[in-house]
Amino acid sequence: MKILFLDQSGKPGGAELCLIDIAKPYQDTCLVGLFADGSFRSLLEENHIPVQILTTQAIQVRKESSLITGLGSIGQLLPLIVKVAQLARKYDCIYANTQKALVVGAIASFLSRRPLVYHLHDILSSEHFSQTNRRIAVTAANRFASLVIANSQASKIAFLEAGGRADITEIVYNGFNPKNYQTDKFAVNQIREKLELNGKFVVGHFSRLAPWKGQHILLEALAQCPEQVTAILVGDALFGEQDYVQQLHRLVTTLKLENRVKFLGFRSDIPQLMTACDLVAHTSTAPEPFGRVIVEAMLCGKPVVAAASGGAMELIEHGINGFLATPGKPQELAQVITACLNNSHETAAIANRGQTVASQRFDVDNINKQIAQLLSRLGTKA
Ligand code: UDP
Ligand code: GLC
Repeated sequence: MKILFLDQSGKPGGAELCLIDIAKPYQDTCLVGLFADGSFRSLLEENHIPVQILTTQAIQVRKESSLITGLGSIGQLLPLIVKVAQLARKYDCIYANTQKALVVGAIASFLSRRPLVYHLHDILSSEHFSQTNRRIAVTAANRFASLVIANSQASKIAFLEAGGRADITEIVYNGFNPKNYQTDKFAVNQIREKLELNGKFVVGHFSRLAPWKGQHILLEALAQCPEQVTAILVGDALFGEQDYVQQLHRLVTTLKLENRVKFLGFRSDIPQLMTACDLVAHTSTAPEPFGRVIVEAMLCGKPVVAAASGGAMELIEHGINGFLATPGKPQELAQVITACLNNSHETAAIANRGQTVASQRFDVDNINKQIAQLLSRLGTKA
């Protein structure tokens, strides 16, 4: 099957990293069209996946945009839509991986008479999107998509609550290759040494720096934990959240955590860094659609504590294969961290169970089979 994948981002967020795994089996015949240039293009090239930058013009509409901005952006998108519609004629289907890709892909699918697949990586709720953006996404998906792939039950439910069609929606979790998370002991020891983590209880946070990812919750929790508990914050402000970065640095100073927190920026050695931690914390304050970092921590055999909401609830069973804490409650998070510090035996058993479960449940080959099967039905539906 020849697939034209579309993604609006030039930067590698979770949806983009997921797309790499989905596009890989189709690398000989597919094309990934991006609406911005950036390091995501290089990652696709490194994975031998054909990629083309379809526009260099920034698309103005944002997650919180109003109807006027939303409608105004359609005119701005016209040249891109025409380009995608022309390209699509050489492919069997259009696979939109983000919301702006959905809008462009929807009209292009109509013009080129190619079926449209929408991979929904978001929770379409008011916490994440303006009413206008939700309405545009749901209308485009309902009217033009033959298949909506939701990355979790939580994303599917929010889509249906926003008016999305149940008959075209299927859930497929992100897939991972467990082998990528088996790390070399020497490399991990080197990281611990270089970052001066030896003798400390290290809590890792692996997310782009954005207010809803809740890094501030971890900092506030840390201030309530014993002195030997330290944190590494891995990730960068990918989508312009510079104010939040400043806020986090100020919070470190206010809470006198200068010697207990390290900001490492965006990194490509996530498995090694996760393995160098004693615990991985996920602290999103709004429901997480899926939460790749949670599964990745499990695959590294590390205990993980996640904010009890959204997709995280489908990934973790509290006290069985990980821990859940109420979102936005630093004191509760501090209690879980301190309990993990004090009960290393029990915690390791939970982490081991997490690793076993995650390796089976999210195995990339199985997940890709599920997607292939759904795509094979398109021909008959379209
Ligand atoms: N990640 C990364 N480098 C970083 C921070 C994060 O490669 O410095 C990866 C992380 O391993 C995960 C993805 O970015 O695979 C984030 O995906 P997630 O689903 O957790 O959240 P998103 O940012 O997509 O909302
Ligand atoms: C989005 C979501 C994240 C999810 C990822 C992959 O970026 O925010 O929760 O894990 O897509 O589906």
